[in-house]
Amino acid sequence: MNKISVVGAGNVGASTAQRLAEGKFGDIVLLDVIPGLPQGKALDLMQAAPLMGYDVNIKGTNDYADIEDSDIVIITAGIARKPGMTRDDLLNINAKITRDVCGNIKQYAPKSIVLTVTNPLDIITYAVYKYTGFEKKKVFGMSGLLDSSRFASFVAKEVGCSVKDVDAMVLGGHGDNMVPLPQYTTVSGIPISEFLPQETIDRLIKRTINAGAEIVSFLMEGSAFYAPSAAVASMVDAIINDSGRMMPASVYLEGEYGFNDVCLGVPIKLGKIGVEKIIEIDLTPEQKASLSISEGAVRSGIEKLDI
Ligand code: NAI
Ligand code: 2OP
Repeated sequence: MNKISVVGAGNVGASTAQRLAEGKFGDIVLLDVIPGLPQGKALDLMQAAPLMGYDVNIKGTNDYADIEDSDIVIITAGIARKPGMTRDDLLNINAKITRDVCGNIKQYAPKSIVLTVTNPLDIITYAVYKYTGFEKKKVFGMSGLLDSSRFASFVAKEVGCSVKDVDAMVLGGHGDNMVPLPQYTTVSGIPISEFLPQETIDRLIKRTINAGAEIVSFLMEGSAFYAPSAAVASMVDAIINDSGRMMPASVYLEGEYGFNDVCLGVPIKLGKIGVEKIIEIDLTPEQKASLSISEGAVRSGIEKLDI
């Protein structure tokens, strides 16, 4: 049985644990610093097992020793941005938490694949790569799959077709500078430009870039977790089942797309070893320029890290 640990038992962590259990991907450890929180949520999830038919064990804990020998560790620990807090404040706090989490992963699960979710995603993924010292194929961040799913859902609604027929692609950092790619976004293989006028595509691109903030503006407190946990579960599925699925993810770049020593969302092939391959695709000059802006924003955050 695979062992998957989820660090952080908040909205994203707990719903990830639920999706992993329902996908029967392995035994799950749910860990948080708040006493009782992961234990209570794990117990609740276990009591759903007879109804949902998942035969996996789910353990809630505050003790990192319980993540021992995990195959995959998912990091959702951290805080979300609160009113009055700058991005830099958020980065400083979450980077400190990440350093602590990584120390424990190194100690208890040194052979694991580490999937980062905590924001600011690309910078924290870079921190995880540096703090763990793991091979680059074993450290990556979830964001592009979520952003692409958001784009795909908007396209399906606008075209009036099944979401099953839409494939979307969004690259770049997980933030205001992400780069949705309409030419690689299709309905049953047909480019969306065959269905939608350019001004509609532009509107959907803007909505995709703003999709996380749109949800925050409704929730008032906290951010999205249903779609984020679905994206994490899809990535775990690809790893556990060694499916070789291709999807965007934030990975450490060494020359790809002309960038070095930075983590950024690009298309990858994902399997049981982690990142099997980084795929380089043709971009328009405008998209190359946008990706460069996105990389610059991530890099300026990386420079603030205490590595
Ligand atoms: P949340 O506030 O509901 O949960 C975070 C949990 O982390 C809390 O339960 C907290 O006690 C725990 N935590 C804090 N310090 C810890 C530590 N040292 N060790 C273990 N646990 C610790 O937040 P939510 O909504 O679950 O989001 C988690 C993170 O994921 C945030 O940074 C958020 O911005 C990010 N996020 C990223 C997405 C992406 O696409 N990459 C999508 C959605 C959220
Ligand atoms: C989102 O895009 C907050 O990163 C999170 O919903």
